[in-house]
Amino acid sequence: MAYLSNEKLVIVGAGGMIGSNMVQSVLMLGLTPNVCLYDIFEPGLHGVADEIAQCGFPGANITWTTNPEEAFTGAKYIISSGGAPRKEGMTREDLLKGNCKIAAEFGDFIKKYCPDVKHVVVIFNPADVTALTALIHSGLKPNQLTSLAALDSTRLQQALALEFGVQQDKVTGAHTYGGHGEQMAVFASQVKVDGKPLCEMGLSDEKWEDIKHRTVQGGSNIIKLRGRSSFQSPAYNAVKMIEAAMGGEKFTLPAGCYVNHDALGFKNVMMAMPTTIDATGVHFVEPKGTADELASLQKSYEHLCKMRDEIVELGIIPPVAEWKEMNPNL
Ligand SMILES: NC(=O)c1ccc[n+]([C@@H]2O[C@H](COP(=O)([O-])OP(=O)(O)OC[C@H]3O[C@@H](n4cnc5c(N)ncnc54)[C@H](O)[C@@H]3O)[C@@H](O)[C@H]2O)c1
Repeated sequence: MAYLSNEKLVIVGAGGMIGSNMVQSVLMLGLTPNVCLYDIFEPGLHGVADEIAQCGFPGANITWTTNPEEAFTGAKYIISSGGAPRKEGMTREDLLKGNCKIAAEFGDFIKKYCPDVKHVVVIFNPADVTALTALIHSGLKPNQLTSLAALDSTRLQQALALEFGVQQDKVTGAHTYGGHGEQMAVFASQVKVDGKPLCEMGLSDEKWEDIKHRTVQGGSNIIKLRGRSSFQSPAYNAVKMIEAAMGGEKFTLPAGCYVNHDALGFKNVMMAMPTTIDATGVHFVEPKGTADELASLQKSYEHLCKMRDEIVELGIIPPVAEWKEMNPNL
């Protein structure tokens, strides 16, 4: 089987639902045969490694370990879903303290064992803040680390496709920006349905509010239906992000990226923007929208600043003025 790359990819949290699905997706999409599975929970990890071996992927070279040094050494790409998931009734923000501590350790492992890693994707929630924590601790350049934010956009796309009875990929430009949480900013003004602008589709304000609500609650709805947090869609999209970073098909759904931009007024946060991931990393452009959409993005940004300041208070990341000491690339 031909693989896109031969470089080492580490899946952190591989014993869990998203992690195990990512290992399978990586091999099915032919990204790299050299996949290392890492988790702190040995039996789960061992079970996933056995199952993957029993798939019999041609040419695959699967290794697994609970030792971080062994896992991270030589890694060129990393995806991490290694953290606690939400349960019914919880928001992503409820995971802040515990998962940000894990993110700090994750960043430290990168700095210590694989400073030459090319790209890292962070999934575990609240993803914008865990990714920011990992970026500060890792010492990586901002364009080398992204967080998974795309599902909010694919949920919006799905809701609009159902509303208008069209195939999902006929809905384009359905994007959300800002935080991957209750305060995400849902943009309508760039959406086209089968090539026609959404504003010409006769959608009532009431219907649009309902679609927005379904988008924001998309993750909670999966928990209600399946009794657990989503895992297939995050696994697939995170793997597509790494495929793009490896030089495969570009990833153009919004990704969470580091933004520190005076002109835009967004400073020292990770958030979803109009982005492209390619072999040179992640690149963002200015979000275009109506005054209302930009105001909701501003609100989402302010919420992210609040969460960032909470983890500064907790001592998980240093105050902004001291970030450069930990990561000179910021
Ligand atoms: N960004 C997104 O769009 C998105 C979508 C869905 C879920 N998530 C998040 O992804 C994360 C994982 O979800 P899941 O369903 O796979 O959960 P899961 O509980 O099935 O798996 C998580 C795995 O991480 C491991 N783990 C915990 N702490 C670790 C550490 N310090 N180092 C390495 N591994 C560690 C656990 O042992 C477990 O195997 C959760 O935080 C969830 O909220 C994000």
